Amino acid sequence: MSDLQAIKGFKDLLPGEASQWRVIEAAAREVLDAHGYREIRPPVLEYTALFSRSIGQSTDIVEKEMFTFEDRGGHSISLRPEGTAGVVRAYIEHGLFKSNPKSKLYYIGPMFRRERPQKGRLRQFHQIGAEAFGIPGALVDAELIMIETMIFERLGVRDLDLVINSLGCRNCRPAYREKLVNYLKSLPAEMFCTDCQRRRETNPMRVLDCKNEGCRAAVEKAPDIFNDLCNDCREHHSKLKNYLRISGLEAYNFKHIFNVKFETNWRLMRGLDYYTRTAFEFLSPNLGAQSAVAAGGRYDNLVEELGGPPTPGVGFAIGIERLMLLIPEATHEKHPDIFLIFIEGGWNFALVLSKGLSDRGISIEMGHDVTRGLKGQMKQANNSGAKFALILGPRELETGYAILQNMEPGVKEPPMPIEITPDLIDMVENIRGKVEDKKKKSQR
Ligand code: HAM
Repeated sequence: MSDLQAIKGFKDLLPGEASQWRVIEAAAREVLDAHGYREIRPPVLEYTALFSRSIGQSTDIVEKEMFTFEDRGGHSISLRPEGTAGVVRAYIEHGLFKSNPKSKLYYIGPMFRRERPQKGRLRQFHQIGAEAFGIPGALVDAELIMIETMIFERLGVRDLDLVINSLGCRNCRPAYREKLVNYLKSLPAEMFCTDCQRRRETNPMRVLDCKNEGCRAAVEKAPDIFNDLCNDCREHHSKLKNYLRISGLEAYNFKHIFNVKFETNWRLMRGLDYYTRTAFEFLSPNLGAQSAVAAGGRYDNLVEELGGPPTPGVGFAIGIERLMLLIPEATHEKHPDIFLIFIEGGWNFALVLSKGLSDRGISIEMGHDVTRGLKGQMKQANNSGAKFALILGPRELETGYAILQNMEPGVKEPPMPIEITPDLIDMVENIRGKVEDKKKKSQR
């Protein structure tokens, strides 16, 4: 492998994909802004301790997937593998818990995990994430799930399964954990994959959602967390289900609009240790092995564990690369309104026209290749997908009239002469009038 190629698991976003990306970001921003979530942009590098203390020392992410380096001062730093930890750090560090304790925040950006790359799994991937602080009730859990479904809806994503679970809290989880460890240790080690042989004691809850066939068979009869949930956790979970039903998400949006299934799965565990109570995932049958397009949950102890006051939190993250695989339209490429074709003597008009038109909201692209002649440039104009070509050839410069030519496929329209006025102002106005007429007609 050449050192001059992109690093394994790191991907270029080419122009067609980048415009689709922008559509996704715009949809997410619109929905999140409309629900009072405010954008935050934490850095991509943090001290490693932030991640080991929040995500958990014995998780796969911290044990083997982080890009970790020592900086020149001898500090261990890591590229962020997810967004929640950094947002919680910022919430504490900037005193948001005082100035705005019920902060609702969102972020869009790259995350890094050294996983084995495959379809839908990269080493640099991107998330749209949202976190709500200081709100203990299950209504905000339901709101976040609704916000995610709204983003999916705007992008035309269908056929998702929403799986929810409760992971208990500080009060009820330890007893369940102990029961689970005892159960897992009562089975022969060979039944488990090598990771789960270790996890049986270090992180037993993760064994429950291991994909390995042996492990799945082994946990078939494992104790169900629902039997051990305390009353508060039980109530939180049943309220969440109720809110999802009352708000019509289950009955209406999910089933009729997206065909989203809605079920509780006590084996859903998540790969991060900070969760308490609610955990959820949106799964798609169209993503192959990496079926989770989004995931999230509640983390009521995390702010306190990272040095802040006791503050409940809940959030989600959508994986943009996986979302891209589910969006029906292949491309959202934007085409210019006008492609400017000109010969040597026309360049002095070209820049002024380019500024004049774009100041007035008309997009304009220049070929930059006067040596190609008019025919060659006409080809370029065609390839650009522009609605009009504006031609400033020798004849046009001589007669003082430029030609505006409709380029839309299948449209036959005579060329429109436009006077080249000395200060170009009338000319720009004239072109704007014609382009806008056209826009109105095509919207009808
Ligand atoms: P997560 O489940 O680790 O949760 O990641 C969320 C989403 O990021 C996944 O459902 C998936 O779509 C995407 N994703 C994860 N790893 C990769 C990868 N290697 N390649 C491509 N996409 C990937 C979190 O990160 C939590 N911080 C979510 C959260 C926010 N919980 C509360 N607040």
